[in-house]
Amino acid sequence: MGRIVAVANQKGGVGKTTTTINLAASLAAAGRRVLLVDVDPQGNLTSGVGQKGRAAAGGTIYDALVSTTAVTDVTPLLLPTPVDRMWLVPADRNLTGAEIELVPLARREERLRLLLEPARDRFDHIFIDCPPSLGLLTLNALVAADAVLIPLHCEYFALEGLADLVGTMRRLRGALNPALDIEGVLLTMFDERTNLGQQVAADVRAFFKEKVFRTVIPRNVRLGEAPSHGLPVLLYDVKSRGAEAYLALAREVIERSAAPAA
Ligand SMILES: Nc1ncnc2c1ncn2[C@@H]1O[C@H](COP(=O)(O)OP(=O)(O)OP(=O)(O)O)[C@@H](O)[C@H]1O
Ligand SMILES: [Mg+2]
Repeated sequence: MGRIVAVANQKGGVGKTTTTINLAASLAAAGRRVLLVDVDPQGNLTSGVGQKGRAAAGGTIYDALVSTTAVTDVTPLLLPTPVDRMWLVPADRNLTGAEIELVPLARREERLRLLLEPARDRFDHIFIDCPPSLGLLTLNALVAADAVLIPLHCEYFALEGLADLVGTMRRLRGALNPALDIEGVLLTMFDERTNLGQQVAADVRAFFKEKVFRTVIPRNVRLGEAPSHGLPVLLYDVKSRGAEAYLALAREVIERSAAPAA
């Protein structure tokens, strides 16, 4: 059964999309079947795997979420990506309207779960790339997910606003998603040359303890360049430190999933 992970942090630009693309591509390279789901109206995930402006035969995630009757088959929404075994449900600008169009719909927080639940047996990992907000799109992702992966930019305000995400997760555990877990906290854009980076990393580890991934993602220009070529860094510059870091993260995710639950 595939595991559904929402990549979320309502702070913008912390590495959610970069992590979604590159962790997923590294898992696919290790033989896993992976599905990427873009629920951000910015569509960065979609363009980052070379599918900007493309819709599948059944449209985009927007069509599935705001359909009058719930959509429960993901097949017509799948687009291939440059990586074998890695598929995408794309997003485009229409999705901006979904935050409002979802409001009057029945089970509006559960639309994504209804779509993805039946797809579990076809993929080993399903990653949902969230927008930088805690609106209905992110709520849909948190309701659909088994766990949340939280990227944290190693800078002074890293933990700012995180209380809102953690509070939202607590509320969902009380109602719509009792089993929602933290998949892990990932330190991103780490610059080992600065004391600040070291200090932030230490603070985050003190707070989230063993929930923090051992793997730390360094600041690496290749990670920033790869999406403009529509490629994961693995296919853009496999020897880069960024590619190495996300391969290490994939190994850690595989190890953790093999270990018995604590
Ligand atoms: N480790 C890294 N080293 C260098 N640049 C990075 C790294 N991670 C991400 N970036 C760049 O930083 C910017 C923000 O990253 P990204 O888009 O992944 O963040 P995000 O959390 O998805 O943003 P948003 O909240 O807008 O969706 C992008 O231009 C990306 O290419
Ligand atoms: Mg993003």
